[in-house]
Amino acid sequence: MSAGFVTPAHLHFVRNHGAVPRVDEGTLRTWTIRVHGLVQRGTTFTLHDLKSMFQTVTLPVTLVCAGNRRKEQNVVRKSLGFNWGAAGVSTALWTGVYLADVLDYVRPLKGQAKHVIFEGGDSLPNGPYGTSQRLSWAANKEKGMLLAWAMNGLPLEPDHGFPIRVIIPGQIGGRSVKWLKSIEISAQESQHHLHFWDNKFLPRHLSPDAARDEPSWWQDPKYLITELNVNSAISHPAHLETLEISREPKDPSRMYTLRGYAYSGGGRRVSRVEVSLDEGATWQLSTVNYPEDQYRDMAYADEVYGTLDLTERDTSFCWCFWSLDVPVSALAKANVIEACAVDESMNMQPRDMYLNATSMMNNCLFRVAILKKETE
Ligand code: MTE
Repeated sequence: MSAGFVTPAHLHFVRNHGAVPRVDEGTLRTWTIRVHGLVQRGTTFTLHDLKSMFQTVTLPVTLVCAGNRRKEQNVVRKSLGFNWGAAGVSTALWTGVYLADVLDYVRPLKGQAKHVIFEGGDSLPNGPYGTSQRLSWAANKEKGMLLAWAMNGLPLEPDHGFPIRVIIPGQIGGRSVKWLKSIEISAQESQHHLHFWDNKFLPRHLSPDAARDEPSWWQDPKYLITELNVNSAISHPAHLETLEISREPKDPSRMYTLRGYAYSGGGRRVSRVEVSLDEGATWQLSTVNYPEDQYRDMAYADEVYGTLDLTERDTSFCWCFWSLDVPVSALAKANVIEACAVDESMNMQPRDMYLNATSMMNNCLFRVAILKKETE
C-alpha cells in the first residue's frame, strides 16, 4: 500500500518558467545565498556554511503544482494555463536545514520585518523567479520550511533546483523557489513579476481574456494562493479504461480494488475519502493509508539524511493513498466513479468546478468514466 509514496527524481513532475541555470563546478564553488534586508546580522552563506552551521533534517514532502488537474477545466473553457492531468504532484524526501533556524541566526528586525522574499538564479524575460512568505510562517519550525540541497538522498537534479532550493510544505509548489540565490527580509511582500502574474486564484466572473491584461486583479494579495486545498484523484481504474466484466460471473463475490491519492494543505490531514458509483446518490468510505506515518515512527540520523524530524509534529505534508474493494457486479452497473476527500478541518471537494482564469486549484469531485467489455 505504500508503493509509489516516494517519487524517484526522474519521475517527479517538473515546472520551470524558463531555462534551467547551468551550474558547473566553478559556479558551484562560488554559489552563495545572501540573506539580507531588515535583519540585525545580514549574512552571505555558502552551501558549506548552511551544512555546518545548522541541524540537517529530512522531511518527506509532497509538492503539488497549483495547476494540478487543470486539464479538466481547460476542456470546458481554455484558461491562461497549459494542461496538467492529475499528475502535477509528487513526493520526495527533502534534505536541508530549517529556514526558521537561518532566520533565527540573522535576527529579523522586530516590528518592521514582515515578509521573507526568495529569489532564484534563473533568468526570465521579466527578471528572476521570486516569491515570498509571511515572516510569521517562515519563522515557525512547525511549518517545516526548508532550504534543501538533496532529494531522496542525492544532490538535487538541475531541473529540481540544483544546488539548493526552498521547500514549503503544505503550499503550492510555486512557492518553493529553485536555484536559490537570495533571501530578503522585508516589510513588503515580493515584488517579483511572477509573484503577481502567476499562482493567483481570481474570482470566477473574470474570463481569461478579461483577466489577462488587468494588473489590479493580479496585484490584489487576496487572490494569492498559498496553502493547497483538499483534493483527490482516482488512479485505478483510469479515465475511459475498459474493464472486462463478465455478464454472468462465475464468482459473483469477485472484487475490484479502486485506488487513488488524496492530499490537503497547510499540514492538514485527509480524514476520509468517499467514493460513489452512482453519481452521488450513495457514498462508501474507502480505507486511507498515510505512508508518511512510517517515517514518523523512525528515529533516524545519518550523514546523508541528517535527522528525520517528524516525531513531534502533528501536521501532515504528504499525500495519502486510498482504496476501496467493490464487487465487480456493482462496477458492471456503474458508468462513472467519483471520489471526494475531506480533511480534518472538514474542508471537502466541491461537486462543481470553480472555473477561474488560471484554472488553478481545481479540486471538484474527481470523476472517471468507465467502459465495459462484456465477456462470457
Ligand atoms: N523556482 C524557480 N527559480 N523558477 C521556476 O520556474 N517554478 C515553480 C517552483 N519553483 C519555479 C521555481 C513552480 S510553478 C513549481 S510548481 C515548482 O517549482 C515545481 O518544482 P519541481 O519542478 O521541482 O517539481
